[in-house]
Amino acid sequence: SSCVLAYSGGLDTSVILGWLMDEGYEVHAVYVDLGQPGEDRQQVLDKANNAGAASARIVDVREELCRDYAFPVMQWQAKYEGPYLLGTSIARPLISKVMLQVAKEVGATAYAHGATGKGNDQCRFQLAAEALESGITMIAPWRIQKFRDMFPGRTELIKYCEDRGIPVKASKAKPYSSDENCLHISYEAGELERLDVNGVDLVDFGMGVSPQEAPDESESVTIDFESGVPVSVNGEKLSALGVVEKLNEIGGRNGVGRIDMVENRFVGMKSRGVYESPGMTVLYEAHRYIEQLAMDRDLMHLRDRLAPEVAEMVYYGFWFCPKFDALLAFNKEAQKVVTGSVTMELYKGNMMVSNRTSPNSLYDEDIATMEGGGSYNQDDAEGFLRIQGLPGRVQAKVNPREY
Ligand code: ARG
Ligand code: SIN
Repeated sequence: SSCVLAYSGGLDTSVILGWLMDEGYEVHAVYVDLGQPGEDRQQVLDKANNAGAASARIVDVREELCRDYAFPVMQWQAKYEGPYLLGTSIARPLISKVMLQVAKEVGATAYAHGATGKGNDQCRFQLAAEALESGITMIAPWRIQKFRDMFPGRTELIKYCEDRGIPVKASKAKPYSSDENCLHISYEAGELERLDVNGVDLVDFGMGVSPQEAPDESESVTIDFESGVPVSVNGEKLSALGVVEKLNEIGGRNGVGRIDMVENRFVGMKSRGVYESPGMTVLYEAHRYIEQLAMDRDLMHLRDRLAPEVAEMVYYGFWFCPKFDALLAFNKEAQKVVTGSVTMELYKGNMMVSNRTSPNSLYDEDIATMEGGGSYNQDDAEGFLRIQGLPGRVQAKVNPREY
């Protein structure tokens, strides 16, 4: 029978490609291009073909990743457990969608991937895939004892490739594992598992400099939004991917967007991760400044209460489900007014707003002014507070507090 394999060209999925063939599968290798930097695409294809794949292809979804996946999550201001901008999580349902499109095309009934049984990625791949195609057979070799026995370590993986003439990159193993796309790079496992190892010192970051290495002068960046969508940077109209790439450059060279956290995986364990996402970090911040002008207070407060829920769903992998559809629809409505332009000064990892405007601005200087006059009548606050304070005054009589 026939299966599609989410193939990266790396060691693990190269071995899995061979192993699936050993198990009698016809394997269709799919490299989903999410903007992983520094990999020669043609070489990846050749490698899969030489290893005996029934077919090999590259599907470029970078634009879709930014436009339809990352931007809605950013508009939600959704972050997992504080700082994590979900760069890996967001990409997984899209990978599964592409894999199933190819499966349909080539008539495959199974979908194989290289995620382990200990992580989040297996959850996201599988939950998304099954939500699109209930009958799909998932093959996760790392969850199969027989496979783990065959490949207890890197040495065995490399030997397997050498025995079959599958080229493996000579590069020596990094002391951690990473996952990269145009939104971010994540680093975890290996030496990073020890919390007394300084993550920022250990990691060889790929998207920018440290705040210490950043220039001694601030750099100004202007971003224009239309209904929550960033459409231009420094006056230049750009596609979704273009915005992300441009801001990765600008944020990266100013030391923006590095974090080191311990997070709760969906499978229950706590895990330490180091992330860099310069462009998306700039976007989250800039977007919030426009919302501050244009978004209704109560709508913003409701959205902010729901944002952790959205982050959790994205992190766990519940992208294709009715609840998430409804949350996306809510976001679309909420973002209608989020139009405007913001300028920030980036300086050694910091971002400070220097100007912001919106045609939908609700900010009214005449109401806000602390100077005399204006259209706000302070007398009105008397009655407002008499009513607001009523329950408190009754409590103070009935259940007096020590103070
Ligand atoms: N902990 C992050 C997440 O769950 C990053 C996962 C990285 N995945 C990987 N295959 N290296 O989203
Ligand atoms: C993996 O286990 O495959 C990577 C880490 C994760 O998915 O959380």
